[in-house]
Amino acid sequence: MTYQTLLFDVKDGVAVVTINRPDKLNALNDQVMAELADAAERIATDPAIKGAILTGAGPKSFVAGADISDLAKQGPFDGKARAMRGQGVLRRFETCGKPVIAAVNGFALGGGCELAMACHIRIASENAKFGQPEVKLGIAPGYGGTQRLPRLVGKGVAMQLILTAEMIDAAEAYRIGLVNRVVTAAELPGATTAMLNTILANGPLAVAHCIEAVNAGYDLPLADALTFEATAFGLLAATDDKREGTRAFLEKRPARFTGA
Ligand code: COA
Repeated sequence: MTYQTLLFDVKDGVAVVTINRPDKLNALNDQVMAELADAAERIATDPAIKGAILTGAGPKSFVAGADISDLAKQGPFDGKARAMRGQGVLRRFETCGKPVIAAVNGFALGGGCELAMACHIRIASENAKFGQPEVKLGIAPGYGGTQRLPRLVGKGVAMQLILTAEMIDAAEAYRIGLVNRVVTAAELPGATTAMLNTILANGPLAVAHCIEAVNAGYDLPLADALTFEATAFGLLAATDDKREGTRAFLEKRPARFTGA
């Protein structure tokens, strides 16, 4: 697929996906969503890609939400279909088996906040602003906001953000646990790449299983979640990466993982 609304660059195993509609603050119209679906699939299936960074073009916005001109036209059935399609796209990033970090470089509102929350880690620039402003438009979050926000920041704070529709700045987002780190705008690309590279230096199969265990286990009863974890722990014992990682420790040298 040739992208018209995304930039997709792969360097040193890292795919940088930039949503590129800066004149509309990178709002998610149907074309962006279709291209993001393709990008998520590429990240999941291309063995040359080891991890990904999602960001927005321009200095002002990560993603200022779903495109309100699309939403204005939708009826109940295409509205539900749009929400389910969008949820599927975000879920594909979440379950792509490789670490995905959101570099939040400005507004992350509505679908933008939801897209960032579907990433495994969020790093924000100081000028970032977060919010779920849907109720101001007479609608509700549709790309997972009512579900991932309480899981990340707790039910009470999530209720407040969703019901007031108020925006919060990066410092407050950090305080409530919505973002992992806040850096200056100039530092954002380097800080995001550095964190991803730290993750990519670890055993890739182990990283993939940790993502899966955290995500799947979060929604399971503790006993089932612990069994899930034990299965991943056992499975990883069959990998070359486990043999290499433990041997490298005992031989006091850096590990060279192959992802096998
Ligand atoms: N959908 C469609 N277009 C959007 C958009 C969205 N979610 N967010 C911003 N844009 C467009 C604006 O319409 C404007 O387009 P125009 O220049 O053709 O008029 C352009 O992006 C710039 O936005 P503007 O509102 O002029 O910038 P601002 O700095 O004054 O305000 C925001 C920035 C983010 C506060 C404001 O754009 C906003 O509230 N956007 C909607 C956020 C939202 O409700 N998102 C959830 C949707 S479910």
